[in-house]
Amino acid sequence: MDVEKICNDVKLLARATGEYLKAGQATLRKKDIELKGTRNYVTYIDKEAEQRLVEGLGKLLPEAGFLTEENTVEFIQKEFTWVIDPLDGTTNYVHGDTPYSVSIALMSGRKVILGVVFDPVADQMFYATESGKAFLNGISLQVSTQATLVNGYIGFGIPYNLDKKGEQILQQAMKQFRNCSFRIKGSAALEICYVAAGISDTYFHSGLSPWDVAAGAFILECAGGKCTDFTGGDHYIFGKEMVASNGAIHQEIMESIIQGT
Ligand code: IPD
Ligand code: CA
Ligand code: CA
Repeated sequence: MDVEKICNDVKLLARATGEYLKAGQATLRKKDIELKGTRNYVTYIDKEAEQRLVEGLGKLLPEAGFLTEENTVEFIQKEFTWVIDPLDGTTNYVHGDTPYSVSIALMSGRKVILGVVFDPVADQMFYATESGKAFLNGISLQVSTQATLVNGYIGFGIPYNLDKKGEQILQQAMKQFRNCSFRIKGSAALEICYVAAGISDTYFHSGLSPWDVAAGAFILECAGGKCTDFTGGDHYIFGKEMVASNGAIHQEIMESIIQGT
């Protein structure tokens, strides 16, 4: 399989889908917006974008299955799996805000071999393949060197289903408000790529799904960063919790915010 060629085709598909999202946001009406749960939105655009991606990706690699957020295609266990979020950042999207993104990962078994995250408004295409490097619009990415929480630039998110553990972590984060700068941008896939690009030093979130993180985490690792679950293990794609970082700040974030020791 020529992963580089597939990645180029995936980028084209991500761009086309992103342009569809952008045009759709400009004409989105109140009645197009549905609620899946409290503050968890979905629109016909999420579903249509997903169908377009499934059709396009299906042609690229007919032997691959799909794991998608909007369930427009049934998940069947196969050797290769496309893990896709057609619109990451729907809350921003329905409020006429940015950023939002298209996120596509290809897994071979339990291993990600390709990741593409596209922000159509900023025109930012983040991508990586198993060849090892990560890129933003053709320029190679590198994580930041910030090694301490003090003066760190830290992304995080608030899950739709905030459980006790998630709430505890947010409270521990609050204790650091005087020490570092926190940001919620509202698209997990992009926020992990911001760590890969050296914009943020770390990003943490509980209650995430594989389609939120698979592509971004792979891009970050290819850029020299580190991802773990909340115990420091590697169950961050399917384990619903992730700490993404430049590596240097990881331990301190784990101790001060995640484990609160
Ligand atoms: C959400 C975004 C958000 C994060 C949520 C995700 P969606 O994805 O990534 O930043 O905080 O937990 O579910 O619903 O916009 O695809
Ligand atoms: Ca998402
Ligand atoms: Ca989504």
